[in-house]
Parts: sequence; C-alpha cells; structure tokens
Amino acid sequence: MEHLQFDFNNLFSFNVGTKHGATEKQLQRMLPDIRSAHRHLKEVIADPAGRVCLGLEWTQLPLQDKAAVREIQELADGIASKYDNVISLGIGGSYLGLKAAQDALRPPYYNEFQALRGKQPRIYFEGNNLDPTPLRALLQNLNPKKTFVVVISKSGETTETKVALDVVSDWLKKGVGNKHGRQVLAITDPETGALRSTVEEEQAEDRLSFRSLPLLPGVGGRYSELNMGLLHLAIIGVKVQQVLDGAKSMAERCSSASVSKNPAYMYAALQTILYKQKGKSIAMMMPFSETLKSTADWYAQLLAESLGKKHLRRIETLEGGRERWVSDKRCIVNVGRTPVPCRGTNDLHSIQQNNIEGENNKTVTFIRVEKFREDLRVPGKKDLLSGKRYSELIKLAQEATEWALVREKRPNCTIIMPEITPFLWGELIFFFEMATAFEGELLNVNAFDQPGVEGYKGYMYHKLGKPGVAKRIAQQIERHPLKKRGKYIL
Ligand code: PA5
Repeated sequence: MEHLQFDFNNLFSFNVGTKHGATEKQLQRMLPDIRSAHRHLKEVIADPAGRVCLGLEWTQLPLQDKAAVREIQELADGIASKYDNVISLGIGGSYLGLKAAQDALRPPYYNEFQALRGKQPRIYFEGNNLDPTPLRALLQNLNPKKTFVVVISKSGETTETKVALDVVSDWLKKGVGNKHGRQVLAITDPETGALRSTVEEEQAEDRLSFRSLPLLPGVGGRYSELNMGLLHLAIIGVKVQQVLDGAKSMAERCSSASVSKNPAYMYAALQTILYKQKGKSIAMMMPFSETLKSTADWYAQLLAESLGKKHLRRIETLEGGRERWVSDKRCIVNVGRTPVPCRGTNDLHSIQQNNIEGENNKTVTFIRVEKFREDLRVPGKKDLLSGKRYSELIKLAQEATEWALVREKRPNCTIIMPEITPFLWGELIFFFEMATAFEGELLNVNAFDQPGVEGYKGYMYHKLGKPGVAKRIAQQIERHPLKKRGKYIL
C-alpha cells in the first residue's frame, strides 16, 4: 500500500538560509510546546463528551461503522438510479469538501460527458453564492422530474443555502407537484436548527418527504467532509470506504507523539516557527494538478476559519475536569496565516512571479502527483518537447519551481502523492485537518469556531429586520455607519 510522503527539507535554513528557514535548533527548542500540545489534544480526543463539546468529534470519522457506510451507499444508489441530476445546496464547510472530492476523484468534464460519468448523475453545486445568475440559468435548463436535491446545512440558518432551498423547492413544486419533497434530502443537525424543523414539518405531512442524514454533533462544517460528504461521494461513484481507510491510516500516523514521525506535527511546527519567527504569514497551497485545485480551495477555508483569530483561547476547567474554551477578550492578537490557493502549472504564469520576487513573507506547499490517471504524449519529432509525456513535464515543472524558490531563499515543502486515489485523498484531507488542529494548539487559538463570520451576518439580519438580532449589534450598526464621502467616489 502506498502512502503520502512529506518533504520538509526546503523549510529549513540549510536550504533557504537562517533569515528565512527554520533551524534544527529552533525545532528542538519547540519540543516542549509540541509535547504539551500533543498531550492536550490527546486528552481532549480521549474524552467522548469533551470531543463533542469542543468540536473534535471529526477525529473519529475515519472509524465510522461500515454498516452505516453501506446504508449511505444504498441511499445513493437509489438516487443515482432514478435521477439524471443532483443539485447540492450548501456553502463553506457544506460545499468545499464535496467539490474538492469530486474534482480530485472523478474525471474532469464529469457533468459534460456520460462516457466519463457512467451511470452516475450530473452534480450541480448551488446555494454557495447570492449571485442569482448561475442558479437561474440552471433552473431554466434542468428537468425537475429528473432532478434530486441534497441540501446541506448544519445550522439551517445560512442565508445562501436557505434562500436557494426556497427557490429550488418552489421550482420543484411547480415542476413535479405537491410530492416534490420526496426529491429532497437534508443533511443537517439531528436535533436542532431551522432545517431540522423543516424536515420534521415536511415529514409530518408526508413520511417520504425531506429524508435526512445527520451532521454529527461536535463536527464543524470545515472538518465534516467525512460525514456530510459521504452521500455525495457515493452518488458520484467513489468508493467511500477507501476514502475513510485512507483517513484512518493518516490518523494512525498522526497519533505519534514524536514530531519526526508525525507529518501533521512537523508541518504545523515548522509553519509556526516560520510564521512567528521569520514573518512567513502567507500560506501558498500549490498542487501541481488541475484536479487538486479545489482541494487547495478547501484547505484555504480550513486554515482561514480555523486559525485566523482576533483573540487567543482561554481554557477553563469545569467541574469534573472537562474543559471549556473561550476567547480571551482581554487582548486583541489577530493571528493566523493567510491562505492563498493556487496551482501549477497555471499560476507559474501569474502568482509565481510574486512568490519568487515579491515580499519574502510566504511559504509554499506543493502537492506533487507521481502518477497521473491519464497521460498524453506530445506528438511528432520537431523539438525537444516532442515525444515527452505531460506527466514528465508537470513533474519537471514542479521540481524546477522548487529549485527556483530555493535559489531565492523562499521556504517551501512538498507533499508527494503517489497517485490521486480515494485512499490517498482520504490521507491528504485528514493530514490537513490534523495539521490545522495542531497548529491551533501551538498558536493557542480555538480552531473549531468562526466568530469572525458573524459580523456580516448580524449586519444583514439587522437590515433585513430579523427579529431577535441582539440589541448590542443593532446599536453598533446604527452608531457606526459606513462613512461614504462623495469626493472619494469617482
Ligand atoms: O466550517 C464551518 O463551520 C462553516 O464554514 C460552515 O460550514 C458554513 O458557514 C455553512 O454553515 P451551515 O452548514 O450551518 O450552513
């Protein structure tokens, strides 16, 4: 069985100099922090109730019951055999993982060509933007009788998903009549939230309407691909168990206390040294593969929402020893590396100029694929590119980019993926989740909340007149309106 490999050499000073690279001594000096972060995470993960309260239940997803996975597969087979199209509604953590999985694990142009898709339905991702253009275009052209809708929202309160569900339900009802709810499945919190209430209301009327699957308590959106993403994986014909097996194998690897054996710890530790001590605040994620670009987009959300925080975490110990994490409002720290997803070789002709000659404030993480599912040979004999395989060229381009960065003393590292398979993709996403959780420990922030996304929501709800918007938010909005001086609007 092949596994991911991680090459961290170019994050070190022996390759990029002490001004820009981590020294082995700096890593040694960090060992006490690494040990205590490991102990802390391990303790939290070992306590089932604590795991749920603090948002670490995702660590258990690779171990989920095979019978439950089989049930999801049966459900997916039923949908795939009956419908030509699936509209998947969701945003953020309820969207990005699905898109990443589909782009990585199914062929490009999946929707366009039946020969590539086989018996699986086309998938349309919607409810992830308030731009009306794509959804309108889609609904004008799809046949509602041949379309199934999966709506994913943990809270059920997310505006983008909510309004899209209303629009799509209305369209379905007009197209197929009152039993339209039988063509909708909701993935949401098993007990609470607006979408759960909708499910209950619909099912009280018609038992087969709005079937549902649970988004597990203690699994936050961006850590939930192995929960809410499973139905989608099964619908598009990916072997779900293989993805879970990959995640499980990475979970085992990332349970080691030793930083030299644990790639997630090594990644998080070196990135933290470079961030805090060498000013590398930008995290470029650069797979050399078109089909992994959306995995880089998924990682961007994971890093940004998990670690971009105004306040540090304060750990309060409750009666019985359980922890509660609260934002330490006594000081503003504004921490967290800024993710920039990009891809080779496209962005060698755009962002790479800045990577090489712009401010030296970033690390680049490459994902290098050793064997591509498909390959092409350049025909003819006319020049030195003739006869070469695309896979050779892209790997050479990655190696060349790595070399060029090192020459300019730009820290970078490479995740080597032997192939893009469900198993190895499962390893990859679990690695990123674990690395992000560990980086959160080293920074001492809560990696499982996202208080910063509430600001715009409060403003919108206030302007829309939503009852129950906290008086404090309403007062803040009224007291601090946006200042627009006419002379600066040109
Ligand atoms: O990671 C997260 O928790 C967020 O990105 C959510 O997934 C996103 O805001 C969507 O939330 P919900 O699933 O409640 O609609």
